Amino acid sequence: MPTSVTARARINLALVKYWGKRDARLNLPAAGSLSVTLSGLGTTSTVSFNSRLTEDRLFVNGEVVRDHRLERASRFLDIFREKARCRERAEIVSFNDVPEGVGLATSASAFASIGLAAALALDIGDDREELAKLVRLGSGSASRSLFSGFVEVSPGIRADGEDYSVRTIASPDHLAMAILVVVVSSARKRVGSREGMEHTRLTSPYYGAWLQEVERDLALARKAVLEKDFSNLGRIAQRQAFRLHGAALAAEPPLLYFSDVTIRAIEVVRDLASRGVECYVTLDAGPSLFVLCRIGEEEEVTRALARIEGVERVVAERPGHAAEVL
Ligand code: PMV
Repeated sequence: MPTSVTARARINLALVKYWGKRDARLNLPAAGSLSVTLSGLGTTSTVSFNSRLTEDRLFVNGEVVRDHRLERASRFLDIFREKARCRERAEIVSFNDVPEGVGLATSASAFASIGLAAALALDIGDDREELAKLVRLGSGSASRSLFSGFVEVSPGIRADGEDYSVRTIASPDHLAMAILVVVVSSARKRVGSREGMEHTRLTSPYYGAWLQEVERDLALARKAVLEKDFSNLGRIAQRQAFRLHGAALAAEPPLLYFSDVTIRAIEVVRDLASRGVECYVTLDAGPSLFVLCRIGEEEEVTRALARIEGVERVVAERPGHAAEVL
């Protein structure tokens, strides 16, 4: 009989970003990161283990997937199978609310939802600290989506990664702010985060400086969250994004994740800020962006962003809750 569990996880936005590993095999980050889990957009996944299956199967948004994503998902399930001493193959059925591959961290909500569902289907239990260590192996940012509100990752120093940890430092309602997700599509083939950060580490002369600044910004961002200081948190989040992209641009060959639409959106945010509408922009490894602003001003900011040619949609979010079983 199949054992089936459905879980949902939302995407998370890194305010202090993860870009570089201290151990590629264990997928251990070189530095800490700090994120906010969003309230809406994410992935719902059903994982069903079944002794009658001869291989793993993956369906994303109703379509069967047979490319590298199946291989990656299958290796991810192996981690849970090994832990549970189970050999059964599984079927994963995932639905994403946002497009993949445009810099919206769908891998975080995908791996968090699949990991949580697999752990419960195999009776591994729901200890989030322990699950974070397993989910991290699928995608480094995914472990943060297991937690609610403002979430900090500590990379640890042990070679076996056992002191890696993730925890909520403040609940979703601790600091009121709006997070606008600006969806920009791109036909361009881009370099995924996993490869991109390794390429930056190996070839960018700015990688060392980037890591040093992350350590500093992490302490400042934590303080800003705890003090409910939106302005400082926004400033740190914005410079974090530009520093990450600065290090990536200095790699050889350079990594450019921005599109023309990204640049136009950055200009609109600057223009709003210069007119006294406090908002900050941040982005990950793709052309889409996130804009932080105060509640009450989100409609004005959304209108300005939605007018930009090439912006597909703008979704207003708030800090939100941890991955959950449905
Ligand atoms: O989790 P990964 O391997 O997809 O890497 C995430 C990298 C960034 O999204 C650019 C930054 C972050 O901390 O989420």
